[in-house]
Amino acid sequence: MSLDALFEAARQAQARAYAPYSRFRVGAAVRGRDGAIYAGCNVENAAYPVGTCAEESAIAAMIAAGERRIAEILVVGEGEGLVTPCGACRQRIREFAAAGARIHVAGPEGVRRTFTLDELLPFAFGPDNLNAT
Ligand code: THU
Repeated sequence: MSLDALFEAARQAQARAYAPYSRFRVGAAVRGRDGAIYAGCNVENAAYPVGTCAEESAIAAMIAAGERRIAEILVVGEGEGLVTPCGACRQRIREFAAAGARIHVAGPEGVRRTFTLDELLPFAFGPDNLNAT
Protein backbone atom coordinates (compact mmCIF):
# COMPACT_ATOMS: atom_id res chain seq x y z
CA MET A 1 0.00 0.00 0.00
CA SER A 2 1.17 3.52 -0.73
CA LEU A 3 2.83 5.43 2.04
CA ASP A 4 1.39 8.74 0.88
CA ALA A 5 -1.83 8.48 2.89
CA LEU A 6 0.10 7.46 6.00
CA PHE A 7 2.51 10.37 5.55
CA GLU A 8 -0.27 12.90 4.98
CA ALA A 9 -2.19 11.74 8.05
CA ALA A 10 0.95 12.03 10.19
CA ARG A 11 1.72 15.49 8.80
CA GLN A 12 -1.78 16.74 9.55
CA ALA A 13 -1.56 15.48 13.11
CA GLN A 14 1.92 16.97 13.47
CA ALA A 15 0.53 20.39 12.51
CA ARG A 16 -1.82 20.11 15.49
CA ALA A 17 0.79 18.96 17.99
CA TYR A 18 0.78 20.65 21.39
CA ALA A 19 4.47 21.14 22.07
CA PRO A 20 4.92 24.58 23.69
CA TYR A 21 7.82 23.38 25.89
CA SER A 22 10.08 21.43 23.53
CA ARG A 23 8.75 23.18 20.41
CA PHE A 24 9.39 19.83 18.73
CA ARG A 25 6.27 18.76 16.89
CA VAL A 26 5.80 15.10 16.09
CA GLY A 27 3.04 13.33 14.17
CA ALA A 28 2.41 9.62 13.83
CA ALA A 29 0.06 7.52 11.75
CA VAL A 30 -0.71 3.85 12.20
CA ARG A 31 -2.20 1.61 9.57
CA GLY A 32 -4.30 -1.07 11.17
CA ARG A 33 -4.69 -4.53 9.72
CA ASP A 34 -8.11 -3.47 8.41
CA GLY A 35 -6.36 -0.80 6.29
CA ALA A 36 -7.71 2.20 8.18
CA ILE A 37 -5.33 4.92 9.37
CA TYR A 38 -5.17 6.35 12.89
CA ALA A 39 -3.15 9.49 13.58
CA GLY A 40 -1.81 11.21 16.67
CA CYS A 41 0.53 13.96 17.80
CA ASN A 42 2.59 14.73 20.87
CA VAL A 43 0.69 16.47 23.67
CA GLU A 44 3.00 18.09 26.22
CA ASN A 45 2.16 19.23 29.73
CA ALA A 46 3.44 21.87 32.15
CA ALA A 47 4.25 18.92 34.41
CA TYR A 48 6.78 17.64 31.88
CA PRO A 49 6.67 13.85 32.46
CA VAL A 50 2.92 13.84 31.91
CA GLY A 51 3.31 14.62 28.21
CA THR A 52 2.46 11.99 25.63
CA CYS A 53 4.22 10.97 22.42
CA ALA A 54 2.70 11.06 18.95
CA GLU A 55 2.97 7.28 18.61
CA GLU A 56 1.18 6.82 21.91
CA SER A 57 -1.71 9.04 20.74
CA ALA A 58 -1.99 7.26 17.39
CA ILE A 59 -2.05 3.84 19.05
CA ALA A 60 -4.70 5.02 21.51
CA ALA A 61 -6.86 6.23 18.61
CA MET A 62 -6.46 2.85 16.93
CA ILE A 63 -7.49 0.94 20.04
CA ALA A 64 -10.42 3.26 20.69
CA ALA A 65 -11.65 2.53 17.15
CA GLY A 66 -11.61 -1.20 17.83
CA GLU A 67 -8.49 -2.20 15.85
CA ARG A 68 -5.88 -4.35 17.63
CA ARG A 69 -3.15 -4.88 15.04
CA ILE A 70 -0.57 -2.42 13.71
CA ALA A 71 0.37 -3.25 10.11
CA GLU A 72 2.82 -0.34 9.84
CA ILE A 73 3.50 3.01 11.46
CA LEU A 74 5.00 6.27 10.23
CA VAL A 75 6.52 8.94 12.46
CA VAL A 76 7.29 12.44 11.24
CA GLY A 77 9.44 14.92 13.15
CA GLU A 78 11.34 18.11 12.60
CA GLY A 79 14.97 18.86 11.95
CA GLU A 80 17.75 16.90 10.31
CA GLY A 81 17.87 13.95 12.67
CA LEU A 82 15.97 10.69 12.41
CA VAL A 83 12.96 10.87 14.74
CA THR A 84 12.79 7.22 15.68
CA PRO A 85 10.25 6.18 18.34
CA CYS A 86 11.50 6.48 21.92
CA GLY A 87 12.12 3.33 23.92
CA ALA A 88 8.73 3.38 25.62
CA CYS A 89 6.95 3.80 22.28
CA ARG A 90 8.90 0.90 20.75
CA GLN A 91 7.44 -1.23 23.52
CA ARG A 92 3.96 0.22 22.90
CA ILE A 93 4.26 -0.67 19.21
CA ARG A 94 5.45 -4.17 20.16
CA GLU A 95 2.21 -4.80 22.00
CA PHE A 96 0.20 -4.61 18.77
CA ALA A 97 2.67 -5.34 15.94
CA ALA A 98 4.55 -8.33 14.56
CA ALA A 99 8.35 -8.36 14.61
CA GLY A 100 8.43 -7.66 10.87
CA ALA A 101 6.08 -4.66 11.00
CA ARG A 102 7.57 -1.61 9.32
CA ILE A 103 8.34 1.62 11.13
CA HIS A 104 8.83 4.51 8.71
CA VAL A 105 10.74 7.55 9.95
CA ALA A 106 10.03 10.75 8.04
CA GLY A 107 10.99 14.39 7.88
CA PRO A 108 8.92 17.16 6.32
CA GLU A 109 10.08 16.09 2.85
CA GLY A 110 9.07 12.44 3.19
CA VAL A 111 10.24 9.07 4.47
CA ARG A 112 13.94 8.95 5.35
CA ARG A 113 14.40 5.41 6.66
CA THR A 114 12.30 2.33 7.17
CA PHE A 115 13.03 -0.16 9.95
CA THR A 116 11.35 -3.31 11.12
CA LEU A 117 10.15 -3.41 14.71
CA ASP A 118 12.66 -6.19 15.31
CA GLU A 119 15.50 -3.89 14.27
CA LEU A 120 14.44 -1.19 16.72
CA LEU A 121 13.48 -3.51 19.57
CA PRO A 122 15.38 -6.79 19.27
CA PHE A 123 14.74 -9.65 21.69
CA ALA A 124 11.57 -7.84 22.74
CA PHE A 125 9.46 -8.80 25.69
CA GLY A 126 5.82 -8.96 24.66
CA PRO A 127 2.39 -10.53 25.08
CA ASP A 128 3.76 -13.97 24.11
CA ASN A 129 5.88 -13.97 27.24
CA LEU A 130 2.70 -13.91 29.29
CA ASN A 131 0.82 -16.33 27.00
CA ALA A 132 -1.73 -13.56 26.58
CA THR A 133 -1.97 -13.38 22.80
N1 THU B 1 8.35 12.76 20.77
C1 THU B 1 7.37 12.02 20.17
O1 THU B 1 6.18 12.37 20.25
N2 THU B 1 7.72 10.93 19.47
C2 THU B 1 9.01 10.52 19.24
O2 THU B 1 9.23 9.54 18.54
C3 THU B 1 10.11 11.29 19.82
C4 THU B 1 9.75 12.38 20.75
C5 THU B 1 7.96 13.99 21.46
C6 THU B 1 7.95 13.94 22.97
C7 THU B 1 8.13 15.41 23.31
O3 THU B 1 6.86 16.04 23.30
C8 THU B 1 8.96 15.97 22.18
O4 THU B 1 8.85 15.04 21.12
C9 THU B 1 10.41 16.18 22.53
O5 THU B 1 10.98 15.03 23.06
